[in-house]
Amino acid sequence: MFSKFSRLLDVEPASPAVPERAWFCHLPRLETRDLVLRPAARRDAQDIYAYASDPEVARYVLWDPHQSLAETRSYIRWLRRQYREGLPSSWVLELKSTGKVVGSIGFVWYSPLNRSAEIGYSLARPCWNHGLATQALAAASRAAFAGLPLNRLEAQHDVRNPASGRVMEKCGFRKEGLLRSRIFNKGELVDVVLWSLLRSDLE
Ligand SMILES: CC(C)(COP(=O)(O)OP(=O)(O)OC[C@H]1O[C@@H](n2cnc3c(N)ncnc32)[C@H](O)[C@@H]1OP(=O)(O)O)[C@@H](O)C(=O)NCCC(=O)NCCS
Repeated sequence: MFSKFSRLLDVEPASPAVPERAWFCHLPRLETRDLVLRPAARRDAQDIYAYASDPEVARYVLWDPHQSLAETRSYIRWLRRQYREGLPSSWVLELKSTGKVVGSIGFVWYSPLNRSAEIGYSLARPCWNHGLATQALAAASRAAFAGLPLNRLEAQHDVRNPASGRVMEKCGFRKEGLLRSRIFNKGELVDVVLWSLLRSDLE
């Protein structure tokens, strides 16, 4: 499940002394076979708006479809503020073959105390079922465990969105269970499936 603004309250702000801030300030540029994962730039607004305004893309995530390019620009400003302040944020997913931004992946929250974080992602509809989310999640998870003193990375999805669970499974996440009526989203209480990847799962 991935939100842009709505879950700010879930963010446990790291203290200024916490070195992880430097990592969130400078999210590493990552490459997969088909994607470049990089921080968002102002020039990405039109590309992001193209998929973030699609109700099908937003159906099971915690944000509503963007209503205007202005809303997308404000989302990018928020992301860039998160980078500046060293707080959890997202990479955009640039498709190597076209240079277009077709999605995003990032951290919903990060808890230094519990050494855990939650990750979420979304992708433009024409790009679904080409293995792109799997490439992005594998790369982002590897980078997070390499760059942060992380023990546990969580991901969750609406039970009606099994494709997202399959992405988690392909990336080595283990299914932990069904959380009944866990989240009120788009007018209804929904069941979500919780998955996690532990550092020890990678060893
Ligand atoms: C969910 C989402 C990220 C998947 O991205 P993707 O790039 O299509 O994912 P991948 O191609 O890497 O893998 C999808 C897998 O799900 C499978 N799948 C697709 N539809 C499915 C369904 N209805 N039921 C079960 N599995 C399904 C695919 O077959 C594939 O598995 P496979 O490689 O074993 O064949 C994408 O559909 C999306 O962005 N949706 C909108 C936003 C969203 O829901 N984000 C996740 C929030 S938790």
